[in-house]
Amino acid sequence: MGGDVAERRPTINDVAARAEEHMRARRLVLLIGASLGLASGVWRTVHRIRRLPYPFWMAVTPFTDWLYGTKTILGHLDVHPGQHVLEIGPGLGRLLLPVAARVAPGGDVTGVEIDHGIAQALRERAVAAGITNITVIDGDAAARQIPIGYFDVAYLAAVLGEIGNPTAVIHHLHDALKPGGMLFIIEGWPDPHHQSLAAVKRRLVPAGFARIGVTRAWGRFTAQFERL
Ligand SMILES: C[S@@+](CC[C@H](N)C(=O)[O-])C[C@H]1O[C@@H](n2cnc3c(N)ncnc32)[C@H](O)[C@@H]1O
Repeated sequence: MGGDVAERRPTINDVAARAEEHMRARRLVLLIGASLGLASGVWRTVHRIRRLPYPFWMAVTPFTDWLYGTKTILGHLDVHPGQHVLEIGPGLGRLLLPVAARVAPGGDVTGVEIDHGIAQALRERAVAAGITNITVIDGDAAARQIPIGYFDVAYLAAVLGEIGNPTAVIHHLHDALKPGGMLFIIEGWPDPHHQSLAAVKRRLVPAGFARIGVTRAWGRFTAQFERL
């Protein structure tokens, strides 16, 4: 027996309602995009006028991991067991603690952190996570205090634009890396001090680094350089 239900042809009202729904969804996406853009612009301007401390409230949470693309960045950093890895400005170790686990066994990581309180909190987080192959150096990376010719890999994530004397830091990084060692620079949204790829290249290439490649994701990039 026929249970056929004749398909109703959409009326002009149905079409108009669907179009209105699409418009509403598009407006919502635009509104969210514009709000994020505005918030990021305001945050960047405030940081330019007044240097704000590292936002402790952001700590290392699943939300900040998502916001700052931790998993993606860890995928870009090409680290292996046995390597010696350096991070300038590791903060609370969002990247450095997982990297320490990745270079074990046989490898180690060093973080140079200008903020004493953060450096101490990072040490405590390492102890709590049972990570022993980590050294945290307190102080400004512009002051020479990093072992020379020791590291296979170095990286800076959301730090370059915050450093007072980037020329000195890049010079020390060159000394700290072995010839052929890799330097990764991670920059992008939502860091208020984020640097453009062109600005990063302008700093690194004259300082003795060759660009290897760049990976982009979600308003961020990881640029890879080789220490010549
Ligand atoms: C925005 S946080 C980024 C932290 C970490 N790299 C991350 O991606 O989660 C910047 C960090 O760099 C540190 N920093 C800024 N200038 C520095 C310098 N000259 N030497 C060492 N650390 C520095 C700050 O104290 C802060 O912990």
